[in-house]
Amino acid sequence: MTTNPNNGFVSGLEGVVAAQTRLSHVDGQRGELILAGYALEEVAPTLSFEAMVHLLWHDRLPTSVEVIHLHSELARWRALPPALLDLLQSAARTNRPAMDALRMAAGAIDLDLPASALDDGTLGHVLLARIPTVVAAYWRLQQGAAPIAPDPALGHAANYLYMLTGSVPNAARVRGLETYLNTVIDHGLNASTFTARVIIATHSDLVSAITGAIGALKGPLHGGAPGPALDMVFAIGEAARAEAYLRAKLEAGERLMGFGHRIYKVRDPRAEVLAAAARDLYAADGDMALYTLAGAVEETAVRLLAEFKPGRNLQTNVEFYTALLLHGLALPTDLFAPTFAVGRVAGWIGHAWEQIATGRLIRPASQYIGARGRSYEHADADRSHALS
Ligand code: ACO
Repeated sequence: MTTNPNNGFVSGLEGVVAAQTRLSHVDGQRGELILAGYALEEVAPTLSFEAMVHLLWHDRLPTSVEVIHLHSELARWRALPPALLDLLQSAARTNRPAMDALRMAAGAIDLDLPASALDDGTLGHVLLARIPTVVAAYWRLQQGAAPIAPDPALGHAANYLYMLTGSVPNAARVRGLETYLNTVIDHGLNASTFTARVIIATHSDLVSAITGAIGALKGPLHGGAPGPALDMVFAIGEAARAEAYLRAKLEAGERLMGFGHRIYKVRDPRAEVLAAAARDLYAADGDMALYTLAGAVEETAVRLLAEFKPGRNLQTNVEFYTALLLHGLALPTDLFAPTFAVGRVAGWIGHAWEQIATGRLIRPASQYIGARGRSYEHADADRSHALS
């Protein structure tokens, strides 16, 4: 932690507790992630995404009637207004990255709604329902294909895959994506969640909070890059080459993507859950080659990191198996960060509602490090504000 003992300045707010939440708890020393009271390992691979959202938003597991109700509510709002599709079409013409398009569309996501529908509860459902539609529609427009209308009969995860490909996914694929979305749904006071809370704390609106959160997620330091982790596995190609490849990288002072974490000093519990989901998915597809290779790369990387960086406890992080799982779901790397947003938006909304309930504006202080005692009267005449 970088602290200035003189006035309490904490660089990057590291370690500063800036919110109370019942949504999730991250314990980096023990490698635990708790979601609304349940261990990640217990709920993420088991619950449907709708059930997970209900748990997060209402602090209890839903009844089957409540799951059906949430499903219907989301299915009702999935379709995008034509003007929003036009906006995505314009962005596709200039080939803007998917996260740019998502940020633009998020701000206009309530375009077709009457003012009477703009209560926070409705907007939560609209945002959760429409973000996957935006991502899928934009992806197809970028490929020169027409967007696929959502299918109200399909669950949230199945419908997302359907809108991307036009095929109804099999049960293994739906399970794989639901486990991914459940795993990334919330993670303490990360940068995008904090952004959402700051915005909503001014009594702004939920759409603004989520648009801001997407802006924060877009940055590579947050959204991360599971793409490079996947590239590394492909570059290694076969297990026998892992040691030489990774050793050369470490000798050159490079970082191994998908390893190390600011908070987790043991294996990220999300890596565990996603690795199991990837194993199941690749097994269902009948081709374990990439999964087996990734396991060998992981084992070698962790061993070499301990050798090159003793005492640092550099372990596998969430990105490594995210890459493998999403690749197994046939998602291109360009869709990794937007797909993360498809899951995390439920957490952002939950945090925004929590923050509204506190009613407290978030307004930290800053440490002034500029000049003092300057006098305008003695300023150089050439720098006068007068226009000639
Ligand atoms: N490969 C090699 N060395 C590493 C790695 C790595 N992946 N991660 C950390 N180190 C080394 C650093 O070089 C440093 O060594 P030094 O003290 O000899 O200079 C030491 O470990 C500590 O590194 P820091 O950067 O201080 O650790 P920090 O906690 O700030 O970094 C981070 C965390 C940014 C995730 C880092 O581990 C990293 O760059 N990993 C690779 C990129 C990656 O996988 N990012 C996704 C993270 S998960 C997420 O954000 C959701």
